[in-house]
Amino acid sequence: MKRMIAVAIAGLLAAPAFAAGDADKGENSFKKCKSCHMIVSDDGETIMKGGKTGPNLYGLPGRTAGSADFRYGNDIVAAGEAGLVWDEASFTGYVADPRAYLSEYLGTKAKSKMSYRLKKASEAADVWAYLESVSAN
Ligand code: HEC
Repeated sequence: MKRMIAVAIAGLLAAPAFAAGDADKGENSFKKCKSCHMIVSDDGETIMKGGKTGPNLYGLPGRTAGSADFRYGNDIVAAGEAGLVWDEASFTGYVADPRAYLSEYLGTKAKSKMSYRLKKASEAADVWAYLESVSAN
């Protein structure tokens, strides 16, 4: 119920910058992420069960890269310190190829602890829409 309200509010507030993704499809695609990522709200509500190999993806929209409570690799933290904040464009770029994205962002050969790649941009946009829908505050 709480989520449905969040989705409704997100729908009202969302001013899609470009090709808005489909949150329902994104929820389905998140199956590819949940072996490593959970979505747990700040007050501890589990929105999507998942593994601990990667950081909690709750509240990702607007969050500085590498800033959650997680043992990140150095390069994503450096990117965050250099100003990388998650929005739809940075998110889709990163998940398509995390290492290449960080390398380009930092202008140096970077490493990433995330080995998974989500190549399809439309699918990444759907996952982004899903993350936005569950993170609305
Ligand atoms: C095999 C495990 C694994 C899978 C599968 C995986 N990730 Fe990750 N992800 C990680 C790890 C580990 C990190 C931390 C990267 C680092 O520290 O360099 C990460 C980091 C991230 C970040 C940066 C978050 C932050 O706090 O700055 C995003 C965004 C992300 N993953 C999205 C996704 C999405 C979306 C999917 C599914 C399409 C996915 N990941 C699938 C392991 C995974």
